[in-house]
Parts: sequence; C-alpha cells; structure tokens
Amino acid sequence: MNATAIYQKRRAAVARALKSAGGGVAVLPTAPELPRNRDTDFPYRHDSYFYYLTGFTEPGAWLAIESSGKSTLFCRPKDLEREIWDGIRLGPKAAPDALGVDAAFSVDALDNTMAQLLTNQSAVWFPFAAHKGLETQVDGWLNKVRAKVRMGAECPQSQHDLCRVLDEMRLVKDRHEIGILRRAGKISAGAHVRAMQTSAVMLRSGGPGGLREYHLEAELLHEFRRHGSQAPAYTSIVAAGANACVLHYRAGDAELKPGQLCLIDAGCELDGYASDITRTFPADGQFTAAQRRLYDIVLAAQYAAVKATRPGQRFTDPHDAATRVLIEGMLDTGLLSKAKHGSVDDVLASGAYRQFYMHRTGHWMGMDVHDCGDYTEPGTKAREEKDAQGQTLTRRPSRILRPGMVLTIEPGLYVRPAKNVPKDYWNIGIRIEDDALITASGCELMTRDVPVDADEIEALMRA
Ligand code: GLY
Ligand code: MN
Ligand code: MN
Repeated sequence: MNATAIYQKRRAAVARALKSAGGGVAVLPTAPELPRNRDTDFPYRHDSYFYYLTGFTEPGAWLAIESSGKSTLFCRPKDLEREIWDGIRLGPKAAPDALGVDAAFSVDALDNTMAQLLTNQSAVWFPFAAHKGLETQVDGWLNKVRAKVRMGAECPQSQHDLCRVLDEMRLVKDRHEIGILRRAGKISAGAHVRAMQTSAVMLRSGGPGGLREYHLEAELLHEFRRHGSQAPAYTSIVAAGANACVLHYRAGDAELKPGQLCLIDAGCELDGYASDITRTFPADGQFTAAQRRLYDIVLAAQYAAVKATRPGQRFTDPHDAATRVLIEGMLDTGLLSKAKHGSVDDVLASGAYRQFYMHRTGHWMGMDVHDCGDYTEPGTKAREEKDAQGQTLTRRPSRILRPGMVLTIEPGLYVRPAKNVPKDYWNIGIRIEDDALITASGCELMTRDVPVDADEIEALMRA
C-alpha cells in the first residue's frame, strides 16, 4: 500500500464511523507553532491525530472529513518570501495529489469554507478540550451557518468528541505503524547499548572530569539521530545512583561513580512513532550483591508481566502479576518485614508495597509515548467499590488486550533511605521497561536488542 493509500483508508474509516453515528463533518487542526521567545519557536511537532489521518507535518493545516467520505485539507498558501526563510510549503494546489485528499484550500479560506462544509450537516465532530480556542472557532462557523437558516439552510444540531473515534482506531496498530514501531525500538535499543558501553569504558579508563549523566544523554541522542530519528520521544532520564529514585528525573550533571547503578529511560521518536525503554545497569559494569538481588526481583516481575501480556488478558493483568512478584521480593529481602506486613495478599490489601513501587506497570504506546486509548473495556457497565480508605470508587472492567495493541511493561523498585529498611538497599532505584506488541498468541517485545538479563548486561559491558 502506498503512503497516500494508508491515510485515505484511515479517513474512510472515520467517515464510516461518522455515518454509523448519524453523519456530520469531522474537523481537525494540526498542532500550533509555539513561540519560545522573541522570534524563536520551540521545535515543531505535528498533532498526532492530524498526522494519523494525513501524514502531513506542516504547521497551519486543518482537515475536514464528511460522512460521505469526502476529505478537504486546508494548508498554508505558497509564499515565496516565507519559503525563503522557513522552507518549502506544499500549498493547496499540490495537496490533492500529494496527500490523496479530495479538495484543498488555503488556510486563509478556513472560516468561510468550513461554514459551507457544515451547512445542512447534522453534526460537527472535533477533538474536545485538545486545542485552545477550537470550541470558539467552531461556534463562529456555526453562527455563520445559522445566519443562513432563513434562506433554508440547516445548522448542525449536535457536537461530538472526535477523539472517541480516533482513540479506538489508534489503539490497534496497523502493519505500517508496527513496522515503524519496530524500527524505533531497534534504534532505541542500540542507543541503550551504546550508553552502557560508554559507561563501562569511561569508568574503567578513569579519564579526567569523570563521566556525567549528560555524557550518556549525548550518546543516546547521537545514536537516535544518526539512525534518522527526528527527536527523542520524551525527555531522556539518565539517573546516577539515588537519582533513580526520582521517577521524573531528567539527565542532569551528576557524576557516575563506580559501584553505582545508572537508570536510563529513553526512547527515540521515528517518523511520528515513539519507543520507550528503561535499563538499569552498574555504571562500572559489575552489579554489587545488593543491587543484583533487587535487579533480579524486578526482572522476574517483568517476566511475570510479559507472560500475562497476551490476547484475552486484561490491561491490568501484567501489573497485577508484576506486583505480586515485587511484593514477594520485598518480603524476602526484608524491605517489608514479614512479621509486620504478613503475606503477599496482606501487602496487596494494605498497599504497603507502594513505598517501593508506586507506579503502574505500563501504558499504551504509539504515536505518543503515553498513547491515547481507553484503559477500560468499552460498552461495559460501571460498578461501585470501596477502596482501603472506605472511599467509593466507580470502576469499569479493564481493557481486554487484542492483537495490534502496543503497551509498555515497566516494573521497578525504588528504595529511599528509611528506618526499618535494610541499609544495603538504600538509594537503589531499578526499572526495566520494554515495548510489547500484542500478537495472535502472546506478545512481541520490540525493544529487546539491548540485554536485560544481569549476566548479559555485565558481559556486554566487559566486551
Ligand atoms: N518514559 C516515560 C514512561 O516510561 O512512562
Ligand atoms: Mn513507559
Ligand atoms: Mn519510559
């Protein structure tokens, strides 16, 4: 399938969804350019929904899809002066051939043309609460249509959230997307390998100035970019020693010392798709006994979660499987005392494990690192439950995993210094994260070109 056909097929699916829900027109802007200061902008990143339906990465563009199947693009007009400064614009004349849309206009014609497109339509669909000022803009178009009702025009009677339609589509990845996600995973895995090797070489050679977190960040960025990745999918975490216990730490300037662990959570974005890998390794290539003990618990938790990541299981099953293994490890190592906290089930019920494991084991991943998609099964009834504090919670059953869904599997343990916690484990933070594609019979880990087993990490760092 050529690139244009992929997006045409997705637009046709949106049109069918609109039609089956009573018709109307879907309207979608791409992301705005964001000024950083004076005449400098932040690096531009298109809107993921917009890209999903067009493959078009220029700013200043809009898409309309009618339930009849007709698609209309609005884009920046050709402008020699601006193109000299900012680069070539596709322009509306070339857009139908380049993008496979049925019609294209200059974005300067947006308000008038959109009012025409919405005339005699039953509904308008747009992403709710996603773009600043969009609701006001839609109101403006509807007012233009209303101004014509005395001449017999009909104005859309209802507004719907387009995200509901697009989130469901994006949750299950097609072959084109899976191909890119696999390539992104490979590039990121290579970057983690490079960072591990650099760490080992630098700490062994003991060069002047030492090894700092930003040195390893630079290795990651170099590897991403030299393989064609446009940018990191999110801000890289490179955390030396105790910094790994700060969940949203960023690569800073702390020095990596022999005997410390280094946690790297970093992934590239490739052609609009993310990857998300975490590895934790000994900065000098050799785990201490205490580090190795906790590492093997986290790894066992990840294996348990991987086993539960298959079609028919629920999204929460990998988390539940990993959490049980982590709790067993907490009780075995004395992070939690058996005398005080009881059994695995007792710890699950009390929530005491959250002292060392306070996040979920995964999230959807795709165009966005924390991708869109409902985490509960659509069409199921909510039920009320009381939590440990007696608060009433409304819950819906967790999402059933299906082939084509992509999620991360990322258990961890984070031990901050505390009374009653064995000192050997203080300041150790470990997370292991891979990206899983649900297949017909299980899952494919797309990011395993970087070792995860402790012996294999040590071997790589010795080589
Ligand atoms: N890197 C973001 C996350 O792991 O969720
Ligand atoms: Mn993640
Ligand atoms: Mn991550």
